[in-house]
Amino acid sequence: MRLKAHPVRSLSGRARPPGDKSISHRSLILGALANGETPIEGLLEGADVLNTAAAMRAYGATVERVGDGRWRVFGQGGFQEPKAPIDFGNSGTGVRLTMGAAARFPILSVFTGDESLSGRPMARVLDPLRAMDAQSFARAGGKLPVALQGTADLHPLVHTPKVASAQIKSAILLAGLGAERQSGVIEPKRTRDHTERMLKAFGANVHEHPHESGGWCAMVEGLMPLYPAPVTVPADPSSAAFPAVAAAILTGSEVRLEGVCLNPLRTGLYETLRDMGVDLTIENQRDSAGETIGDLLIRGGGLKAVSPPATRASDMIDEFPILAVACAFAEGTSVLSGAEELRVKESDRIALMVNGLRACGVNVEERPDGMVIEGKGPGSVPGGALVETHGDHRIAMSFLVLGLAAQNPVTVEDADMIATSFPGFSAFMAALGADIRDDA
Ligand code: S3P
Repeated sequence: MRLKAHPVRSLSGRARPPGDKSISHRSLILGALANGETPIEGLLEGADVLNTAAAMRAYGATVERVGDGRWRVFGQGGFQEPKAPIDFGNSGTGVRLTMGAAARFPILSVFTGDESLSGRPMARVLDPLRAMDAQSFARAGGKLPVALQGTADLHPLVHTPKVASAQIKSAILLAGLGAERQSGVIEPKRTRDHTERMLKAFGANVHEHPHESGGWCAMVEGLMPLYPAPVTVPADPSSAAFPAVAAAILTGSEVRLEGVCLNPLRTGLYETLRDMGVDLTIENQRDSAGETIGDLLIRGGGLKAVSPPATRASDMIDEFPILAVACAFAEGTSVLSGAEELRVKESDRIALMVNGLRACGVNVEERPDGMVIEGKGPGSVPGGALVETHGDHRIAMSFLVLGLAAQNPVTVEDADMIATSFPGFSAFMAALGADIRDDA
């Protein structure tokens, strides 16, 4: 399906973005590992999370939808061997976290995924799991399909990943639940800590501290049971990023995004928008089920260029595509760096953003770890292009947002994958005044 975004004057209104994808996956996986009933509120009902729900059923948990975003997981305290390969669709989080969770049971799992996921690196998780004694076979280069043979006798491991990745950390922590003593990671830079927070809520002993290397150490004690805990999923700051930037680049906009997760390891984009001079305030800040949440109020207009520190990259790793759009509408030249991981996301996001921005009339220099963007200023991005997404949801949403504020409409090829993380995106945006239509 092609979608076309037509220019509009401004956006206004209030809305609650969909549930957080990271927390949604983890709620299903931890619920399946625990013994008993885990009630979940606000689950993201996007394709990625629904694949994880199906996976947890394949491992023997009962997973039921009881209402809008309301789910219940009845875990067995462990995984049973699935009878067939498990298809994780587009989701790196789903497959990598489940590999870690399955490694500590004496069962064979076969993992598959769509074309994009089948091109993404899995050795970053399989290698440390092998060091813990879970054997695996993968296609050349550590790609899916993967067959993983778990064991009840995992060795403990303290792993030092080369890249800052919450998925790697989470896989090791979930496997570490089945090893003696303590297992975990020393990450080069602290990444999102939802797994740690949620493991604590489910009764695990998790220890975290800064590491002398300048990185961050997160460890879990193994051989302890998990107890079910209710989960309330806040709105996803990575999804809120699209309406937030749309409001920021359309002068005169005023948009309020409610109940957004404000975990400090996820808010790099909002910090950066403020650095760009965006009028962004947080209201009604409060605690909700182990996370800080709040309402974001964004008033559009007057963006300055920005060069955020490379160390901020992991706090906004999924927001680079939409940040690049904000930079295209800023006055001055922005330098985005520290984001080489973008090359192994659902697509090579650096290459696709560079191509798409150029097609929309913006001068961009591609760099191995980011890009340099010559901002056109508000109202001055030509647009008028058909942009390739390679089936990447965040690339599609980013260029639709660009089209709302460009001089000419922007069409994105292949927008179906938006449903992996933001089902109902066009309608959500339309309620704020956007004009995004099917383009047959
Ligand atoms: C996620 C971690 C990040 C992020 C992904 C969700 C998670 O991936 O890009 O969308 O839920 O742990 P990496 O761990 O590969 O950086």
